Amino acid sequence: MKFVVDQQVEDIEMPENLKLNTFLQEFHSDCPNSECNFGFYGFAFGQSPFPVPKLIQDELIKNADKGAYAAVPGIPELRSAISKYNKHYFGMDVSPERIYVGPGTKELIFNLLEILHGTVILPTPAWLGYLPQIRFLKKNYHMLPTRANKKIVPNDLRKLALRLQDRQKILILNNPHNPTGLLYDRLELEEIADVCREQNIAVISDEIYALTTYDFSKFVSMGKIYPEGTFVTNGLSKSHAAGGYRLGYVIFPQHAIDLRRQFKKILATEYTAVSTPIQHAAVAGFEISKEMDEYFVHTRNIHQIMGEYTYHALTAIDGVRATKPDATFYLLADFNAFATDLQKAKINTSQKLSESLIVHPYHTAIVGGDSLVLERTDFSARIAYVDYDGVKVYQEYLANKPKSSFEKIEFVKKNAPKVVAGIDMIADFFTNLRKDALQELQIKKSSMIASN
Ligand SMILES: Cc1ncc(COP(=O)(O)O)c(C=O)c1O
Repeated sequence: MKFVVDQQVEDIEMPENLKLNTFLQEFHSDCPNSECNFGFYGFAFGQSPFPVPKLIQDELIKNADKGAYAAVPGIPELRSAISKYNKHYFGMDVSPERIYVGPGTKELIFNLLEILHGTVILPTPAWLGYLPQIRFLKKNYHMLPTRANKKIVPNDLRKLALRLQDRQKILILNNPHNPTGLLYDRLELEEIADVCREQNIAVISDEIYALTTYDFSKFVSMGKIYPEGTFVTNGLSKSHAAGGYRLGYVIFPQHAIDLRRQFKKILATEYTAVSTPIQHAAVAGFEISKEMDEYFVHTRNIHQIMGEYTYHALTAIDGVRATKPDATFYLLADFNAFATDLQKAKINTSQKLSESLIVHPYHTAIVGGDSLVLERTDFSARIAYVDYDGVKVYQEYLANKPKSSFEKIEFVKKNAPKVVAGIDMIADFFTNLRKDALQELQIKKSSMIASN
């Protein structure tokens, strides 16, 4: 039988994360050089390298016998644990009824976009997951490009909202932010919330990286600032290094009781409920315990050490600029100072730049600007600094915590040699690019002199 795929599906573009996978696999099998055997310097994948906390693993094993379907919004123990977790870490009073559990925040964001009417406002650069969902749902959307500091400018948001005809708009706020690693402070959030109130904008606040904030006292949830209009999403994937568990949650805005009912309908229609053993395991991850607390502190400290090294090493390359991350395990590197040299080398798009860096002799995987919803000719890239053995590095960190700047650099050199070598490769790439451009210029000059 020849199957015919629905036209709607045919029209959907491959999401960038899948494209990236295919691209890396293709490169890998095609490379004839023996040096390729080690793989590549991996700055492309956004996954926490640390072990899943032991107490979550233990609970999963203990609950393997739970074969019954769970309630659609989640098991009561889990919703109650998430409620207490939000009080403890984020200072939020959220009753368990306002919390719905889903198979990852990606799915929950998709479900929210399904039920909420209105044009979507997507600030850019952005995580590569949102746009395919918005397109899949055929929603109207507008980009909101950020400026030099890479954060939403409230007045730009106001101006855009004033142009839109919808009675309701949806802003996707990602805080802390992938790919820049930046954190919005209270004042910035308040200014955005003022515009949202004024312009009737609902906010989906994707806070999946909240607990990775290096100076955690600085993190403020939009759910606190704009409780009547914000849907906060968070989960196990980043802070608990358990993306593969597929467990996230959404906190509904205050008083959105009818909306919760509608949402339940959607979840019941699409996936019934999250796996019951996973929900039981997640309770241990959200319950307040010394073990989890220490885990959050240590893992965020390691991310910070790796992030500071990456930031300083990258920006030490003449012409390279980068965001200085406050959280997450990413930063946004800006290679636009090399635009002329890149164009001379026929590297005209950020995709081409990623391709040029992954091939021999550089073997370095980055996520180029167009996968981050930037212009195709914007030579920016996301650098994820997680290419190391997280189980080993976690143990090393516990055994010998680096304190001084020198010790931190040594820690990175010893424990994350691929991060160090990958940045050196990026430096080599741009040095060679400049050298080639200079050489070409000299050849041109001398041929001009000769012909005179
Ligand atoms: C900003 C952002 N939001 C959401 C997700 C997806 O999280 P989940 O695993 O909960 O679906 C990711 C994962 O990379 C992310 O970077």
